[in-house]
Amino acid sequence: MATPHTSELDLDIERGVALVTLNRPHAMNALSIQMRADLIELATKLDRDADVGAVVFIGAGGKAFCAGADLNERGQKSAQELYDERRYFRSRWINFISSMVKPTIAAINGYCLGGGLELALQCDIRIASEQATFGLPEVTLGFLPGAGATQRLPRAIGLQKAKELILTGRRFGAREAEELGLVARTVPHETLLAGATELARTIAANPRLSVIQAKLALNASQETFVSGGLQFENEAWLSCLLSDAWKGKLERFAGRKDA
Ligand code: CAA
Repeated sequence: MATPHTSELDLDIERGVALVTLNRPHAMNALSIQMRADLIELATKLDRDADVGAVVFIGAGGKAFCAGADLNERGQKSAQELYDERRYFRSRWINFISSMVKPTIAAINGYCLGGGLELALQCDIRIASEQATFGLPEVTLGFLPGAGATQRLPRAIGLQKAKELILTGRRFGAREAEELGLVARTVPHETLLAGATELARTIAANPRLSVIQAKLALNASQETFVSGGLQFENEAWLSCLLSDAWKGKLERFAGRKDA
């Protein structure tokens, strides 16, 4: 049973894993302005919460992860209102998950379209139900994906495939998403939440410092030349020495050998 956090988000924290549920199933969990604001605030809170080692995002209702921007809400606004809103929100929204230090997993349980896919692209790992459907239909609506997909999708699946998907706006299924490398794995629909939670628990059980440092070094690989990235990796590795976690782990090994 999910626990309401705000009117449009549920939050359950158990054994180191925060489960965030986008809860607007009547609208395929489309992103209202309120839900966006709530998500941005929650991401900061979870990053600071010492009880949270990893975060899973999922959609309520079983049909959709998230169908993108709330087109009903958007359709009622003037161009000026949309312009002002974007000026305010874009910088806050565009990296709000990707800049979290805690590892994040998108558990994609249905439609994952437009801004919903862009939200998933901000997550570290994506797992899909076999029933998931993906797509970036923005160009068919007279826009372009403007919340990160033109930059993150080519890095995830290569420029050729990203161009094909963004310029056509076509939908595609979970198997294709897995073949493209857009999702780490596809699982039966009914096992998705358990699988994503188990993955998050495995990550959360590792020493937090090493997980965070590894994540930051991996992220740097997408932003820098290899030489700069290798230097970043070394700095991230050296920081792990300052924690006692590695010592405890290796002492246990040494103890086993002596025994
Ligand atoms: N915004 C608001 N409401 C949405 C929505 C959206 N993006 N997507 C679905 N809904 C609502 C529908 O209006 C409908 O509500 P009512 O029952 O009150 O009429 C309800 O969800 C169920 O939708 P459907 O009846 O259409 O269900 P379906 O199973 O036939 O189709 C769907 C599901 C394929 C997701 C279809 O609803 C659809 O194509 N939705 C639009 C998806 C889309 O184009 N997303 C991209 C938006 S642009 C964007 O995200 C970019 C950005 O700026 C961030």
